[in-house]
Amino acid sequence: MRRLNLPRRPRRLRRTAAIRNMVAETRLTPADLIQPYFVIDGEGAPQEIASLPGQRRLPIRELVRECEQLHRLGVPGVALFPSIEPVLKDAAGSEALNPETLVLRAIRAVKQAVPELAIVTDIALDPYTDHGHDGIFNAAGTDMDNDGTVEILRQMSLLCAEAGADFVAPSDMMDGRIEAIRESLDDAGLTETAIMAYSAKFASAFYGPFRDAVGSASVAGTNLLGKHTYQLNPANRREALLETELDELEAADVLMVKPAGAYLDIIRDVRNNTHLPLAAYQVSGEYAQLHAAARLGWLDLERCRDESLLAIKRAGADMILTYFAAEVAGCFSR
Ligand code: PBG
Repeated sequence: MRRLNLPRRPRRLRRTAAIRNMVAETRLTPADLIQPYFVIDGEGAPQEIASLPGQRRLPIRELVRECEQLHRLGVPGVALFPSIEPVLKDAAGSEALNPETLVLRAIRAVKQAVPELAIVTDIALDPYTDHGHDGIFNAAGTDMDNDGTVEILRQMSLLCAEAGADFVAPSDMMDGRIEAIRESLDDAGLTETAIMAYSAKFASAFYGPFRDAVGSASVAGTNLLGKHTYQLNPANRREALLETELDELEAADVLMVKPAGAYLDIIRDVRNNTHLPLAAYQVSGEYAQLHAAARLGWLDLERCRDESLLAIKRAGADMILTYFAAEVAGCFSR
């Protein structure tokens, strides 16, 4: 056999598990993760969500229990999403401004039980509107009323901040909302409440199971087919950078790219373009597709789960919102 004259052999560093571990460039830990939770009212049992296997809508009492557990596992934060009764919904999403609305009671309960856990609350109207859009319509009913929606988001943010949220996270993609929310928080003396801006949020088909989980109405029956007049076109990279730059100028504390897996290039672009912390949201459809393939016996769920999260971190995310957070953190404590 002829030996190659080859001093450089990269495979030397892949020879044993110990060496591979020494040269690993990216590591995933529970501290990287944020767990989203769906909250329901009442004292009933948690409700399974068909399209999100392993995720359940939780009454506040169970939510608090899971948050305590999650904190013990080393996960630093949770994102809360209310799933309210259809009778409470209207065109203006007015339940969002009820000072005793479900999500505010959930924030208070979690803060009281686990004060160290960071709470992120979504700021958008879709859980509250009967049409399922993230904002209110203009008088003609032809498009979102951008500025009118921002006015409501300011008030929502104040309520969530006063209830104890560490981050308000506007996910609506209306123009100018970060600056407006910062101004309202500061005027109210809530200078320590941070803004995690869903900055580059794409009009994605991967949100399907989430809309099922919060029971947000299908926007299909309205004059706006889909959320394309506010969420980003999946074709656009430069526009995503522009949105993140604007949010930074408007004083966002953390930027976000969403979804994550199909937008790793955007995560890397934003990472290279800002010094702010960057979050990425591995959304419901990303979670569901791995479960579905695993159920068919086509993919190994745990390995694909870990690989998908590692890839998001490698792309440049400092924190990952993922439905796998509790489960992955559990593996670390075994
Ligand atoms: C609401 C919101 C959505 C998600 C988070 N906040 C859905 C949407 O914009 O329609 C999706 C999260 C997921 O799919 O896991 N503005």
